[in-house]
Amino acid sequence: MNRFHILTLFPKMVMDGLNTSIIGRAIDAGLLEINAVNIRDYSTNKHMKVDDYPYGGGAGLVMQPEPVYRAYKDLTKNMKKKPRVVYLTPQGTTFHQEMAKELAKEEELVFLCGHYEGIDERVLEEIVTDYVSIGDYVLTGGELPAMVMIDSISRLVPGVLHNDDSAGDESFENGLLEYPQYTRPPVFLDKEVPEVLLSGHHENIRKWRHEQSVKRTKERRPDLWKAYEKEMEENNGNK
Ligand code: ADE
Repeated sequence: MNRFHILTLFPKMVMDGLNTSIIGRAIDAGLLEINAVNIRDYSTNKHMKVDDYPYGGGAGLVMQPEPVYRAYKDLTKNMKKKPRVVYLTPQGTTFHQEMAKELAKEEELVFLCGHYEGIDERVLEEIVTDYVSIGDYVLTGGELPAMVMIDSISRLVPGVLHNDDSAGDESFENGLLEYPQYTRPPVFLDKEVPEVLLSGHHENIRKWRHEQSVKRTKERRPDLWKAYEKEMEENNGNK
């Protein structure tokens, strides 16, 4: 069982977003648990305020440390060990498949979502273990990045994808992008499905798919292709 806890000012956004499709089914099956905690519930202010002006001046508001800390303390009070706490920020390490695999091993994970101009540094220093970005662009808050991470980690949890093979054959798993896929009908807009896929010849299909993966990776992700070639050289062609 993997438990994801999200400290957020917008719990509904996270719960609605994740309660559908494959992830929703996995939650219903008891393979995953999603627990969104509303940081605002831990405000001590009579107006439930959670933000204030930045010391030193500047635009925007900063999330105050106390509500975040109180939410964290309450969440973790019965946990056997301190969980990893991922803070979503454009200033973090860029998320990638290997990180998803590593995080999938954790039984409990906490995601901390900031808003406005971010969160007071002192509480981050105290509780955050991992600073993670989902790419070099700026979003309005950490909720979408947390959902992106939870989606990609969840599909690596055994049983979440029904066909256990389907987490292994795709883009990034072997350093190449995935080959193109086809289904019925055999002809669409005068375009035919590549003949080899109808041949039933497994070895030829495997070869064709590998060639397509290589072609696609070279065209679309020359950076990945370079890394793949380098690794092949180092391993004398055994990957
Ligand atoms: N918060 C705002 N933008 C972000 C990004 N690109 N990645 C993670 N968290 C964010």
